[in-house]
Parts: sequence; structure tokens; C-alpha cells
Amino acid sequence: TRQLRIAPSILSADFAHLADQCQAVIDAGADWLHVDVMDGHYVPNITIGLPVVEALRQALPDAFLDVHLMIDNPDDFVGPFARAGADLVSFHPETSRHPHRAIHTIKALGKKAGLAINPGTPLNWLDHLAHDLDLALIMSVNPGFGGQAFIPHTVDKIRQLTARLEALGADLDIEVDGGVSPSNAEQLRRAGANVLVAGSAVFGAPNYKQAIDAIRQQASL
Ligand code: DX5
Ligand code: ZN
Repeated sequence: TRQLRIAPSILSADFAHLADQCQAVIDAGADWLHVDVMDGHYVPNITIGLPVVEALRQALPDAFLDVHLMIDNPDDFVGPFARAGADLVSFHPETSRHPHRAIHTIKALGKKAGLAINPGTPLNWLDHLAHDLDLALIMSVNPGFGGQAFIPHTVDKIRQLTARLEALGADLDIEVDGGVSPSNAEQLRRAGANVLVAGSAVFGAPNYKQAIDAIRQQASL
């Protein structure tokens, strides 16, 4: 099983103090920073784009930037986000014309590639791409907003994915995104997820370290 990583989603941070907020969660034990990019087309919300990823790269040279693209036409943007300083770029395959090509665009730039699977998207989108990918991102809410309720049957989907990847002999990180909290971290980890994204559960807590520790502790049971 792959290493457990806690990835606070900066979507729930205070954007007026973004670098400070990022540094604060890193100091509190965050392993990755999850950066949600939304375009108002693929999802009904607009967040941040390339200049913010560039600025975070400058401000936090050692941070692992996990960039989650929720945008139409990702084929044109995976390269620019990788060049802007992302360490990992994930995109949603239904909106890509050539997912295999987009994955290799990311990898040719020396970055890790992830494929994001919505609650209603079947796992078989991953089958012929598994060996090219570094990570599968399983959405446990519909993409677009922080603070939504966790969709419980995601746990079973992760269990199925774990078995499927094992059968394929593909060793990927499995990331879960949406509604993650100390109350579901244990079952998610047991199902096979090793990267836990948490937005409101971290940035909405009075103490970031306590919040991250609580998720890590539950996921380590
Ligand atoms: C949802 C985003 C998530 C979101 C998670 O579209 O991809 O990363 O910020 O936030 P919480 O943890 O609050 O559900
Ligand atoms: Zn996300």
C-alpha cells in the first residue's frame, strides 16, 4: 500500500492570504497542497488559474502542488499548468479529446499525471490508461464546490478500483476528493485510498494541526 498523504484543498482557504494559509497547513503537517482550478464551464464555479499556481510555486518552492483541473478542454492546459509549477496535474477524461496524449504531455514535462473520476463516471475510463498514470482521483462529491456532503457509495467504488488496479498490475496512488473528514478517513484508507484531500475539514477547523492529525490518525487505524 502506498504512503498516506493528507492534501488540504486551498479552495477553502482565505484567498486574500493564500501563501500564508498554505504555509500554515504545511507547518501543521500537510503533505500536499490540493489546488482546485475551475472554469465556470466544466463545473458551475470559477476559482483560480495559471497565475496563482505560478505565484504559489514562487512563494513555496518546496511544496508539492497537486493541481486538479476541473475545466473544459484540458488538453490545451495540462502543459501550461505543468510548466507553471504543478507537481501533479489531474484532469477529467470526459472533457478531453485525447486523454492518453494529455497524460503524456504532463509526463514529458517531468510531472505526475492523474485522472479524475466523477461520482457518475465509470471506473473503466481508467482501464487502458492505468499504466500511463501516476494517480487516480476519485471524486466523492460532484466537482464544483467545497463543503459538500460525502457520497457514501464512493467507498465501494474505491474498493473496486483497488481490486481492478491490482488485477491490472498497476501501482497508482488513489486520491479521494470531497467531503473527507476524520469520520470517513478510516474506511477510505481501508478501501485503498492513500491521498486524502480535505478542504473544509482542515481550513474550517480552528486548529489546522489538530484537524490534519485527526484525519491522519483515523486513516492509520
Ligand atoms: C470539489 C473540489 C474539492 C473540494 C473539497 O470540486 O475538487 O477539492 O475543495 O472540499 P471539501 O473537503 O470541503 O469537500
Ligand atoms: Zn479537488
